Amino acid sequence: MASNSRGQFSSKLGFIMAAAGSAVGLGNVWGFPTKAASNGGAAFLIIYLVMVFLLAFPMLVAELTIGRYGQSNPIASLRSIWTKNRAAAGFFGLIAMVAASMILSFYSILAGWLMGFAAAPALEVVGLQSAADWLVNFGDARNVILALLFSLLTIYVVQKGVADGIEKWSTRLMPMLFVLFGVMIVYIFTQDGAMDGLKMYLIPDVSHVTPALLVDSMGQAFFSLSLGVGSMMVYGSYLKKDVNIPKTAAQVAAIDTAVAFSAGLLILPAMFVAKNNGVEIFNAAGDLMSSGDLVFAVLPAMFDTMGSMGMIVGTGFFVLMVIAALTSSISLLEVPVSCAQDELNMTRRKATWVIGSAILVLSIVIALNFGSLFGLVADISTVYMQPLLGVVWAIVVGWIWNRNKLLNELKEGNPEIEQGLFWKIWPWYVRIVCPVAILAVFMFSVL
Ligand code: PHE
Repeated sequence: MASNSRGQFSSKLGFIMAAAGSAVGLGNVWGFPTKAASNGGAAFLIIYLVMVFLLAFPMLVAELTIGRYGQSNPIASLRSIWTKNRAAAGFFGLIAMVAASMILSFYSILAGWLMGFAAAPALEVVGLQSAADWLVNFGDARNVILALLFSLLTIYVVQKGVADGIEKWSTRLMPMLFVLFGVMIVYIFTQDGAMDGLKMYLIPDVSHVTPALLVDSMGQAFFSLSLGVGSMMVYGSYLKKDVNIPKTAAQVAAIDTAVAFSAGLLILPAMFVAKNNGVEIFNAAGDLMSSGDLVFAVLPAMFDTMGSMGMIVGTGFFVLMVIAALTSSISLLEVPVSCAQDELNMTRRKATWVIGSAILVLSIVIALNFGSLFGLVADISTVYMQPLLGVVWAIVVGWIWNRNKLLNELKEGNPEIEQGLFWKIWPWYVRIVCPVAILAVFMFSVL
């Protein structure tokens, strides 16, 4: 039953919006700018671009190709390639599913906060000051309730399926996000102090290029392109055979990078506008405030100094963050849901509710033990599991997959690929360079 009742993206644009929606998330609008700000701005930007091009993009092609070949959930898709060791395929598919669920569990808490910050200004205006304060201040009840609301949104979209849920909402929300971004950047540039931020962002200071920067930027590139955890595999499995995968992957990577770059154009100048308005952005030691504080303290403080305009800009900013988070969280939930649908023969509705609720329970446990669990779950899933799973996928594509079958899959939608440069480089690149480079950077980060 699984194969004929599977969903499919209805158009190429729909797929690009969905995959870009997965990629563009808190990693871009929050992670990237704050990492850039605390790592010398332009230095981080340049190394990040190199990492996206040299490591993340080839791996994105690999994951999309595995998914489209398998036409199934990540576990089954891996099995269809790794036919000689189905147990190992199932095992790594399962680990990917666990990693996706872990990321979603902490992501929902963050996204919940952003919902709180988006709603607070409106409540303030109508005089509900204490409700607004509750929404923006750290507290168990707020953390749990907002994570619950965000999880329900995610469940609502995923439960509707591929074309009617994921694709429809991504195609609606992504253009909104682009427009909001444009408006916000233009506005920030008219404010005093913005140019200092722009300078920091665009003029490189090479003293910041350290090994730690390499590790950070690789992790950031993997997280940002949604690699490792099966999201791109499962989206690839809903892709029609007439799509040119390398080209589509390049478009998705380009959109993702453009949004990260734009987020930097917004946040770094905004930091200095805030400073100009008397908000502290550096601590007593002269270091930049911690990344959490930047978005949740510095920016709201800046919006406050902007009077009534600040309310609109602030709401716009946080709505934008919530949209970005939602189109990513649905791709995270889709991983375990697609596995449960096929492997356990569940209906999509049931699978979505059962798994969505289970992950919500995990979110609540994390929210109630925030200090000890939040960073731990985030680190295990993003610092360890994502790169290591990336190495496994590179090995599957480079060493285990029969070269002719791989070529045939890529030829679909791209019949001339064999003659082009891509096919001359990519196969051995994914076979050797990707796993070695990812492992090298990874070893560095753990040592
Ligand atoms: N790419 C998303 C972001 O940048 C996060 C994500 C990671 C989504 C892994 C899916 C899978 O926020």
